[in-house]
Amino acid sequence: MSKEIVVSGIRSTGHLHLGNYFGAIQNYVMMQENYDCYFFVADYHALTTHPDPKELKTNVFRVLAENIASGLDPEKVALYAQSDVPEIPELYLLLNMSAYKGELEKVPTFKDKVRQHPDNVNAGLLTYPVLMAADILIHRAVKVPVGKDQEQHLEMARNFAQRFNGRYSEFFPEPQVFRFNNDTVKIMSLDGNGKMSKSENANNTIFLSDDDDLIKKKIMKAKTDAGPTEPNAVMPDYIQNLFLLMHLTSKPEIVDIYRSQYNNCNIRYGDMKKQLAEDMAAFVRPIREHAAELQKDEALLKKILKQGAEKARASASVTIDGARKLMGINYY
Ligand code: AMP
Ligand code: TRP
Repeated sequence: MSKEIVVSGIRSTGHLHLGNYFGAIQNYVMMQENYDCYFFVADYHALTTHPDPKELKTNVFRVLAENIASGLDPEKVALYAQSDVPEIPELYLLLNMSAYKGELEKVPTFKDKVRQHPDNVNAGLLTYPVLMAADILIHRAVKVPVGKDQEQHLEMARNFAQRFNGRYSEFFPEPQVFRFNNDTVKIMSLDGNGKMSKSENANNTIFLSDDDDLIKKKIMKAKTDAGPTEPNAVMPDYIQNLFLLMHLTSKPEIVDIYRSQYNNCNIRYGDMKKQLAEDMAAFVRPIREHAAELQKDEALLKKILKQGAEKARASASVTIDGARKLMGINYY
């Protein structure tokens, strides 16, 4: 039986953090054995907000290295840069013919960007979801491992697929959000303000490139409070976030100890954070060290990118030929 096709991408806009790791990469690693996987660095998407030519290559190579260091095997999956697959922008152009200004302007991520950068509301930003749909549909993927924040984009990808199918002929499957163990993991910033992200609030974000001391410092500063005053109290979301991080990195017995202390109102957050800081530092260390080694080996990273692009283009060219034919673009 042929394996189901999976696509996902990460923008090369900065250092990867725990949100990227637990929200996305960990899923990729678990999927690589049983699915036909296409994972890529979304460098065109990065250009919508991060157009500095001097930083682009370093950012792309870092994202690549951090994915491999987290356990992705370039022999098992197609691991590539979006800009190495010209069939993607071609499909993007074709899909743009049935993407409408009104619906694109309504997308919450677009509205956020308009608010954040009123001086840079470019067409690439407006059509971001169309390019993302092209990334996915180019391999006719059915499953897309992404965090909760990408669900709306996925819905749009399904709309674009349906429109194409309705206008021409049944061609694209409708891609669905996928999480390996059905968990919607969302990692909040350590100060409790919003989600961890690459570009905001670096002091409250743990990056895969942070050293042990920095990780410990950041965790020891994480927001807590005076503790619960009645047994089995509901946890504030910033405390829940610390327990989630502990659940993801510490031994289950350790989490149980702190959870029961919480429920009995005798938890000392300082102790909990010290333990979490130790366990988190030990968790991130091998990833950071492996990624740093890989980034020194440009020849290897280039080889991996080339090989990934070849695999991705083999699949993409079949789709683009089919789409062009259905649209009537076949003159010879
Ligand atoms: P981005 O950093 O926005 O390019 O996101 C890359 C992937 O990481 C996407 O699948 C996001 O859903 C996921 N992601 C980003 N930030 C978080 C977070 N704080 N918690 C969980 N998942 C996240
Ligand atoms: N928009 C995604 C994000 O910000 C990144 C992305 C681009 C993506 N193209 C994709 C994710 C295709 C999954 C599939 O996280």
